[in-house]
Amino acid sequence: MRLLLTVLKRIHKPPADTSRPRCLSSSASSGLLPLRDEALILGSSRELVQRLGSQVEVRTTFITEEEEGALLRELEPGLKKKRYEFDHWDDAIHGYRETERVRWGPACEEVLNRVRSVAFPQGSPLLGPVHILDLDKTGYIKPHIDSVKFCGSTIAGLSLLSDSIMRLVKEDASNEWLELLLPRRSLYILRDQARYNFTHEILKDEESVFNGQRVARQRRISVICRNLPD
Ligand code: OGA
Ligand code: MN
Repeated sequence: MRLLLTVLKRIHKPPADTSRPRCLSSSASSGLLPLRDEALILGSSRELVQRLGSQVEVRTTFITEEEEGALLRELEPGLKKKRYEFDHWDDAIHGYRETERVRWGPACEEVLNRVRSVAFPQGSPLLGPVHILDLDKTGYIKPHIDSVKFCGSTIAGLSLLSDSIMRLVKEDASNEWLELLLPRRSLYILRDQARYNFTHEILKDEESVFNGQRVARQRRISVICRNLPD
C-alpha cells in the first residue's frame, strides 16, 4: 500500500539545466574553514540569496545527539519492516522508504514542538501526521514541488544520520538556484516563494559537492512537518 503522501504530495519536474555557475553569495569564505563554519546557503547571485533569504533557513545543530537518538529509537522499528524502493522510475524519490507518525513519546514530541514553534506562524493549522523519509545511501530526491493542494506555505525538515545538499531551482528560470548544506541534526525551513516557485531536490552521493567541498552522503532520515493550505 502506498502512503497518501507518496501518491499525492509531489509534482515531479524534469531535471533542470545543470550548467550553472558556482557563485558564493551569502558570506565571504576562505575555503579553509571546516564545513560547518562556512555559509550554508549558496546561490546563483547575491541578489537571489538576499531576496530569498527570509524564506529559506538552515539551523545547524537544531537537535542534540541525544534527541537524534530518541527520534531514531522511535522510528527505526517501523522503518526496518519496510523495504527501500528503487524501481519506480517516475517517482520523485529514488531509494527510499517512508512512513507517517501522529503520536510520539515525550522526548520526540518536545523536539517536534520546537520545530513547529520556529517554523510555523502561531495558530497555523498543521498537517497532522509528521512525514518520515528514509533515504538509502544511494537514494536521492529528484526536483519537485510539493503538491499545493495538500500542503501549505511552509515545509520544515530535520536531517538525521547524514549531511546532505538540497538544491532549489526556479521553476521558470533554471539559471536561478540556491544550494543549502543540510548538516546532520540541522533543521531547514522553506517558505512561500522558495516553496512554491522553486523545485527542491536532495542530491545523490556522487553529486554531493558544496562550494567545492565533497559532502559524503550516508543513509539519511528526514522528519518533515508541513502546514495545511489556506
Ligand atoms: C519530500 C521532500 C525533503 C527531505 O518528501 O517531498 O522534499 O528533506 N523531502 O527529505
Ligand atoms: Mn518535497
